[in-house]
Amino acid sequence: MTSTFNVLNAAAYEQLMGRWSKKLAPLLIDFAGLAERERILDVGCGAGSLTVALAGKADLSEIVAIDYSSVFVEEATRRNNDPRVKILQADACDLPFEDGAFDRSFALLVLHFVADAGKAVAEMRRVVRHGGVVAAAVWDHFGGMPGMRMMVDTVAALSEGGRQLRNRFCFQPMMQPGEMKRTFVEQGLLEVTETELMIRMDYQSFDDYWAPIGAGEGPLGKYVAQLDPTERSRAETAVRDAYEAGRPDGPRSFANVAWACRGITT
Ligand SMILES: C[S@@+](CC[C@H](N)C(=O)[O-])C[C@H]1O[C@@H](n2cnc3c(N)ncnc32)[C@H](O)[C@@H]1O
Repeated sequence: MTSTFNVLNAAAYEQLMGRWSKKLAPLLIDFAGLAERERILDVGCGAGSLTVALAGKADLSEIVAIDYSSVFVEEATRRNNDPRVKILQADACDLPFEDGAFDRSFALLVLHFVADAGKAVAEMRRVVRHGGVVAAAVWDHFGGMPGMRMMVDTVAALSEGGRQLRNRFCFQPMMQPGEMKRTFVEQGLLEVTETELMIRMDYQSFDDYWAPIGAGEGPLGKYVAQLDPTERSRAETAVRDAYEAGRPDGPRSFANVAWACRGITT
């Protein structure tokens, strides 16, 4: 399978991750660089957090945004009113573009959902011209995402299924230190640099944190959706307890670290 991402509903995705990827997008652009009049490819655009940030950062000649999921292609298309932006359904591992068609290609929070992430990086390199830039960011689920670790650690303590969820969650592709850098180098990129980007996820309440997960969105939501009602209620109560941590329900703020990598094409 070329995408392991679970998407049901664009509004739930926005509450789960889109609102945070909007904060991360400018940090990835600053790290990767951008110049006037360039043609840019946004791989795995989702609802368009990075696409919109790119459009606002420079006077680009074109931004092509692709996603595997028809739900996201429709949502990104519905939100877009910029004539420079073209959105289409495509697979990161088989990009429908000529060699060297773009000045830069970006993938924000995508490669950890691609089983053969090396193939996606090879494709991102192929479609960028000589001397252009390939850049990507993925969350550090194991060590840099305490808000989501809180959930998977809690359900891991409740059942074997929860332990298996945690095992999968912590070791998705490209998340280990140096893993993305190694992949970029293996795929022939030059001057490869890996760094960390940090944002905070600020929730108003437990419901604000839990609603998209409880609605079945994303990988953690998919796990919750297949629990029976008793297990589900037990999981929600235990995660609520971890969120509240002995204080009344209300705002909580979590730091979140993404690995980011960039390289130059030959
Ligand atoms: C966490 S979302 C990130 C979306 C967007 N880049 C953002 O930051 O909000 C992951 C996205 O990667 C897309 N995706 C996963 N595998 C893909 C593939 N093989 N080709 C294209 N898109 C893929 C999913 O459909 C989903 O939209």
